[in-house]
Amino acid sequence: MRIAVFISGTGTNLKSLIDAQKNNEFNSTIELVISNKDAKGLFHGLNANIPSLVVKNDEEILEKLQEYNIDFIVLAGYLKRVSETILNNYENKIINIHPSLLPKYGGKNFYGMKVHKAVFENKDEVSGVTVHYVDENLDSGAIILQREVSIVDCKSPIEIKDKVLEVEHILLKEAIKKVEEEQ
Ligand code: GRF
Repeated sequence: MRIAVFISGTGTNLKSLIDAQKNNEFNSTIELVISNKDAKGLFHGLNANIPSLVVKNDEEILEKLQEYNIDFIVLAGYLKRVSETILNNYENKIINIHPSLLPKYGGKNFYGMKVHKAVFENKDEVSGVTVHYVDENLDSGAIILQREVSIVDCKSPIEIKDKVLEVEHILLKEAIKKVEEEQ
């Protein structure tokens, strides 16, 4: 697959995919990085000589996806809702990583640290990671992989975030491999 990774933040999941590609952990290639803003994580793409662009308008994103012959999209901390235009052109070809055990802590109020704060406040002992297909509703598409993370020893939402993020870096590349095998 020719993959585009969409990011909005630090891009550590992007970095882990770039490293996984280098180590031949999957067959796909990351051909494009797109961000809706001047995200810190863009430098990971640029360092790896991957075209890494800030594109805010979805019509323009679609043009770029077509220009680079992208056939699969990975949302890795992309905080903007993907429009119908893109969804219709990439049906069952877009996946997202979410830092909780969906359907728990999913939906419009749960993103980034908000997830980990809620998990911490509820005194949960287990959190986790979900990689799922993207459909027209938020965090609701079919689950590809899900993994639990024990957080009994975590003393703050930040500690939960760090522990969950480590597992995200593993699960996302595994999910890509799984999708490749299924196609
Ligand atoms: C991750 O926790 C991801 O699950 C969420 O946003 C965060 C992005 O982290 N959707 P990074 O930009 O990959 O470091």
